[in-house]
Amino acid sequence: MQVNEYALGFTSLNEEVDAQSLPITGELPAWLSGSLLRTAPTRYEVGERTYTHWFDGLAMLHAFSFEAGAVSYSNRFLHSRNFCEAEAKGRISRSEFMTDPCRTLFGRVMSVFFPKPTENGNVNVTVLGDQIVALTETPMPIRFDTRTLSSLGRLKYDRAVKGQISTAHPHHDGISGYSYVIHMKRRSVYRFFVDEGGHQRVLAELPVKEPSYLHSFGMSENYLILAEFPLRVHPLRLALSGKPFITNYRWHPELGTVFTVVNKKTGKVEARAKAPACFCFHHVNAFEVDGAVHVDLLAYPDPGIIDRLKLDPLRAGNSGDAVAALHRFSIPLGRGEQVSEITGQQLCPTSLELPRFDYGRRAGKPYRVLWGVGQGEGSGWWDTILRLDLTTFPAPVQQWQEAGCYPGEPVFVPRPGGTAEDDGILLSVVLNSNTGTSFLLVLDAVSLSEVARAAVPHHIPFGFHGNHFSNPTNPSQLQ
Ligand code: CO
Repeated sequence: MQVNEYALGFTSLNEEVDAQSLPITGELPAWLSGSLLRTAPTRYEVGERTYTHWFDGLAMLHAFSFEAGAVSYSNRFLHSRNFCEAEAKGRISRSEFMTDPCRTLFGRVMSVFFPKPTENGNVNVTVLGDQIVALTETPMPIRFDTRTLSSLGRLKYDRAVKGQISTAHPHHDGISGYSYVIHMKRRSVYRFFVDEGGHQRVLAELPVKEPSYLHSFGMSENYLILAEFPLRVHPLRLALSGKPFITNYRWHPELGTVFTVVNKKTGKVEARAKAPACFCFHHVNAFEVDGAVHVDLLAYPDPGIIDRLKLDPLRAGNSGDAVAALHRFSIPLGRGEQVSEITGQQLCPTSLELPRFDYGRRAGKPYRVLWGVGQGEGSGWWDTILRLDLTTFPAPVQQWQEAGCYPGEPVFVPRPGGTAEDDGILLSVVLNSNTGTSFLLVLDAVSLSEVARAAVPHHIPFGFHGNHFSNPTNPSQLQ
């Protein structure tokens, strides 16, 4: 058991703030403009009940807007139907990752026939099609006004893009967007789709008997890569068990990790491979060199991380151990339907999470640098920002750390006119347990030395993902 000075990061925030100017220590780069837009689970109690899991909390949007060396902060609850119904009824009315609403037997039967999927976009803020949306793991992105953060309702996909489950990590290659839905039925499918100018088209359908729990997927220059980890569910159990979503999945390590490589243009399956079992939330990047697709991801030995991220143990100070080892899986191309047996190569002895790199210029291509959060020895939670250089093996690691401080995802913002993939800054929302408040940390992306910090008047609960948008009103693509 740890001394839990970071429990505040798992405590609800109810205060909404509108365009509050933040005091800055240091100096923001003069070129920094636009907004860092993030989402996070931020309210954990509804009526008499508390959500079970960190992933369940009601979403709040957080915006840091930069102009002429100044920064202002706004936050606002995402007005999903989950949030609005909780407000109106004073109780949890929709299922989340590990929490179900209270239901009578009749209500339980009804929910099988008329499911009310979650649209609580607490995982990521990103571009889908040509719009900025808040996402969770269902195909129900919520649009919002990037200036006022007021919610604008659901982004509706084309009817052909049918499924109950999706990812909060779509890809974008500067031309098109890519994502998938999982259609759970008697003959279930993973359905990849491409988004061209706000219109979605089905690209490939991969039949599957027992779909895996997936959080993200890979994209190289020419391919989409589905990595199925052996945490699988029988669709009937999901429909009929009456138990919360993730508790229906079962771990089958004997099935291994199965990679399927799909052509981005034709939708054709170009390669398959099988590796020993692992579990993963986050792909980092993928690229094609020497007749193979190299897929980098953060691998856990098993899905134990899911239970470690329940709210009660986290609040009690049990170690989250929410860091995983960076592995590279190299899938040979040109072998048709033949399944290649492969193993991953661990690139670095230090484990990390919430990986970021120069996505705008390096997505799908060979890359050199990535950043993430780490958990130092003796800490129960993420307390460092890491930088890995992949040009040498094992990758050397640099880090930022400060006593009592717990950083979130380090978002890379390239310096305009720069060409190197680490020429820029990192933006990270940090909880300072010494003051009981959070701050926005600005680091030099090469040296990890502090450039500036901006103090927020209250704490910001720990969240997952967001992005910096140079021009949030006209987001053509991610940086
Ligand atoms: Co994620």
